[in-house]
Amino acid sequence: MKKKIRIGALISGGGTNLQAIIDACEPGKIDGEMSFVGSDNPDAKGLQRAEKHGIPTFTTDYAAIIRSVKQSPEKVVLPQDFNIDELFSKQSFFSPHFDIEKMKVFMVTRVIAEAKMLEQMRAYPFDLLVLAGFMRTLSPYFIDKVNTDIPRIMNIHPALLPAFPGTDGYGGTFRYGCKVGGCTVHFIDYGEDTGPIIGQRAFPIYENDTVETVRERGLKLEWEIYPECIQLFAQGRLKVVKMSYLLENGKKAERTVVKIV
Ligand code: GRF
Repeated sequence: MKKKIRIGALISGGGTNLQAIIDACEPGKIDGEMSFVGSDNPDAKGLQRAEKHGIPTFTTDYAAIIRSVKQSPEKVVLPQDFNIDELFSKQSFFSPHFDIEKMKVFMVTRVIAEAKMLEQMRAYPFDLLVLAGFMRTLSPYFIDKVNTDIPRIMNIHPALLPAFPGTDGYGGTFRYGCKVGGCTVHFIDYGEDTGPIIGQRAFPIYENDTVETVRERGLKLEWEIYPECIQLFAQGRLKVVKMSYLLENGKKAERTVVKIV
């Protein structure tokens, strides 16, 4: 029998991608099994999907944590290994001109939530963590604790990255008047939807489309490509490598990319 990878998932909402992953694991289209489903949102419908399949679930209530930190900052207890300077120097989701106080509040609240989430995840060992509509930015604090050896946090994004990063990929694609939309599976890094791309799928956008029809068409492709990319990971076929290239000005640059072997 083939060795199965253990997959953890984080969700925030409906969980249709989660369902596609569960449905691909059960008949062996993915050599994997779900070890847990976590959510930042206690009302995420996807939690019920997991429970139906007997997958352990938990919630880390981000909104409640953020509220309580803002209400009583004097009561905040940060993890012992919290180092805000190190986190600021690693992260690339804020521009250097962003308000430093706001950045601090963001980092402190996220790290407190992430430390809690990591504690909840400890009960369920996993090889791969998939973000399936998880609408929270993960800080370097969390990422470094998961990526101890190789990149192993995957995300699905509703646009053809690097176009339209952020929370509304299909909306952005549609409003821009694009004639092609798409979805992207990538490993996450310290930026906003900037990590190395694993797979992409594109679809046409027609004159009579609406943002809803674009989203529907895109989601159907997401349900195909996410399980396919997870299976590549399970088969050990994703190699993350540094690629060097020359810029127009003759200077050398480097980017981390995924090669499918
Ligand atoms: C998907 O469009 C995904 O690309 C984005 O959030 C949406 C989640 O949908 N990150 P669902 O919860 O999987 O149905």
